[in-house]
Amino acid sequence: MGEGVLTSGFSRVDGALACEGVSLDRIAAEVGTPAYVYSTSVVRDRYQKLDAALAPMPHRIHYTLKANSNRGLLNVLRDLGAGVDVVSGGELFRAMRAGFGGKDVIFGGVGKTERELREALEAQVLLINVESEAEIRLLDRVAGELGVTAPIGIRVNPEVTVDSSHRYIKTGEKGAKFGVPFDEVLGAARVAAELPHTTLLGLDMHIGSQLFRLDPYLDGTERLVELLGKLKKDGIDTLEYLDIGGGLGVSYDDEQPPDLTRFAHALTSRVQPTGLTLLMEPGRFIVGNAGVLLTRVLYRKRSGGRQFLITDAGMTELLRPSHYDAYHRIEAVHDTDKQMTADVVGPVCESGDFLALDREMDDANAGDLLAVYDVGAYGYVMASNYNTRPRGVEVLVDGDRFAVATARERYEDLVHLEHEDPQWRDA
Ligand SMILES: Cc1ncc(COP(=O)(O)O)c(C=O)c1O
Repeated sequence: MGEGVLTSGFSRVDGALACEGVSLDRIAAEVGTPAYVYSTSVVRDRYQKLDAALAPMPHRIHYTLKANSNRGLLNVLRDLGAGVDVVSGGELFRAMRAGFGGKDVIFGGVGKTERELREALEAQVLLINVESEAEIRLLDRVAGELGVTAPIGIRVNPEVTVDSSHRYIKTGEKGAKFGVPFDEVLGAARVAAELPHTTLLGLDMHIGSQLFRLDPYLDGTERLVELLGKLKKDGIDTLEYLDIGGGLGVSYDDEQPPDLTRFAHALTSRVQPTGLTLLMEPGRFIVGNAGVLLTRVLYRKRSGGRQFLITDAGMTELLRPSHYDAYHRIEAVHDTDKQMTADVVGPVCESGDFLALDREMDDANAGDLLAVYDVGAYGYVMASNYNTRPRGVEVLVDGDRFAVATARERYEDLVHLEHEDPQWRDA
């Protein structure tokens, strides 16, 4: 990941884990568990390192809200100068509430509704990354109704092979549901250039997540540059942005994340000659390693020769292990030199509810606190209320201070949309 990137804001102090200058014991005692605890230093560091690496070319980092849309973290990133990438009307609403302006926003997503397109145009976003010709035509109609011109980026499927850790997080191979197929981009670009209420400002790709090799990124970028040449030949010369998506990998176990300096260097040589501004949409890279999930062991029991630790967090708090077979490091908050092999499972009524299976780990018993690492991306945002479980609390740490950024849900929050006495309508 290049030199000096902060890999963790968590360390052991006097026999117990702390986030920056605040002990996890203290946080658990004050706000309870399950709790997501985020180190703002890691987030700042990641953003600044990436920004510095890209400095040789005109660029902007649009942090992807889908990874973690916590208001407090958005404030941190906004203060650093980040833009945002959103994929729904809800994320646009969150971004605007967090103080981002329309020109800070890229609006993407494979299935935007007419209402969402209208909202994006009303917010005057920088770019709407479209994924089909039909979407361009719809956007043209909506923009015409509003009396504006829609700023369009075409999300290209560059059809490159990626080596991501799970097939669910590959998005840029031939036949994926995302983007415009490579050989149809020119046609879509002509439509965008010719319609009266659209202007083509960018080409975009996002080839997958948790990427460690540079070549698919560079191959994809080259394919965008190749398209750019074809568009120019065709007389389409309105483009200002080249958006290469997110996807930079982070370490959950012993993976070697890409070297930022090499990455930026290789990109510069390809993008600089185009004269366009480079946009990136990282999510996991910025926040992935910045958070832990604090959970308490409720019970320890044996069954069929296996040891189980039953914790107060499970698939409802962290879906990644059961959904993507993802590995997350787990440690006891208090030092111990005893080890055990355990299945760490949640309280949800599902056999697929687990945080780790067959894991060699610190010995733990009922009442002990565990820290599940690297839950800053795709953690809380994928949490659910399954089994009518209130979502946990989100805490930000900044040096020696901490603050609750999102309160724990209450039972009343879970039923507040329900009608006690539904009003029946006749057919
Ligand atoms: C269009 C788009 N951009 C950016 C991202 C962020 O990816 P990552 O968190 O891997 O950086 C995603 C994630 O799925 C995405 O779909």
